[in-house]
Amino acid sequence: MPDPAGGPPRDVVRCYSLSDRPHPERYRITVKRVPAPPTRPDLPAGVGSNHLHDRIVEGARLSVRAPSGHFHLVDQGRLPIVLIAGGIGITPMLSILNTLALRSDPREVWLFYGVRNGAEHIMKGHLEGLREVHPNLHLNVCYSQPNTQDGLGRDYQHEGQIDLQLLRWNLPFGRYEFYLCGPPAMMEALVPALEKQGVAEQNIHYESFGPASLTRRRVSATASSDADADSGAGSGSTSTDSAFSVRFTRSGKSVVWDPRAGSLLTLAEDQGIPIESGCRAGSCGCCQTAVESGEVVYLQTPDADIEPGHCLPCICRPAGDLTLTL
Ligand SMILES: Cc1cc2nc3c(=O)[nH]c(=O)nc-3n(C[C@H](O)[C@H](O)[C@H](O)COP(=O)(O)OP(=O)(O)OC[C@H]3O[C@@H](n4cnc5c(N)ncnc54)[C@H](O)[C@@H]3O)c2cc1C
Ligand code: FES
Repeated sequence: MPDPAGGPPRDVVRCYSLSDRPHPERYRITVKRVPAPPTRPDLPAGVGSNHLHDRIVEGARLSVRAPSGHFHLVDQGRLPIVLIAGGIGITPMLSILNTLALRSDPREVWLFYGVRNGAEHIMKGHLEGLREVHPNLHLNVCYSQPNTQDGLGRDYQHEGQIDLQLLRWNLPFGRYEFYLCGPPAMMEALVPALEKQGVAEQNIHYESFGPASLTRRRVSATASSDADADSGAGSGSTSTDSAFSVRFTRSGKSVVWDPRAGSLLTLAEDQGIPIESGCRAGSCGCCQTAVESGEVVYLQTPDADIEPGHCLPCICRPAGDLTLTL
């Protein structure tokens, strides 16, 4: 895409959830236009989302990878379903809801959808339409800062944010399959709160739209053999409390990693080492890097497929001394 700053065109990689049910002829994504941070209006607005909004029209051609990821409806699930979405985190929930509707799934479904106000309430008509056709869908829309024209009971059901109390008030006693997708603060509050309430880990599914902020899914994974990262079958130490040496062979740099350095992606970027990145969340596979020796610890389950002997630096840290082809 053209560089908004006037430089040469460049590739920009971003991940977008499918926001509709499986369809034989098309995929759908729903993209929020991302502005500059409110505290830094001097920074450029989001590159990829604004490009999609401003320049991509019907007939445009984009390079896309095949859909992948672990955040989707559990096919064999029998429990009633609770979907919790914050802001644009509604997109995978739309996919789940539309899939359930297509199948006329008889399970009870609760959607808790948090936005600031009516201006951010996307797919309102669609969601209300689904509720009319599927009486087993219970809509709970929460506005944290309603506008004067927003009507409680008409446009939204609750004022405030989604929290455990709201779930307790609205969900009959019982077991549920929980799906969560939203901003880091929401996930960091709700996922541990649900676990504390005794919800089994396998019944809590979540996805972040950015750098990992939850580390519940700590997986010890190999980086130098063909073991499956998802299996948690890594053989090395999983300690992340020490300092380890990390050697970047292509750029000829050796640095010390300690927990303050964060992920291997951040470490490489801080050293000015060229490394591609897209999602920074283990989803796109852009940052995949060969490991020459050593092992890594994953901070969350990778969504992208990882080739044997490689790692995804955006979501891992060294498990000991490490050499990367970078
Ligand atoms: C698995 C997954 C699924 C996703 N699904 C969706 C989806 O369904 N819908 C959706 O809308 N999004 C989704 N996202 C988010 C999406 O991938 C992008 O992150 C989002 O669109 C922003 O990309 P951007 O290129 O517009 O912003 P970027 O260019 O990446 O910028 C992000 C922010 O950083 C600010 N910024 C720019 N320069 C600097 C700087 N120097 N320092 C600090 N800040 C700076 C920008 O102003 C902007 O606010 C998903 C992400 C993941 C990982
Ligand atoms: S940047 Fe997307 S997987 Fe690492």
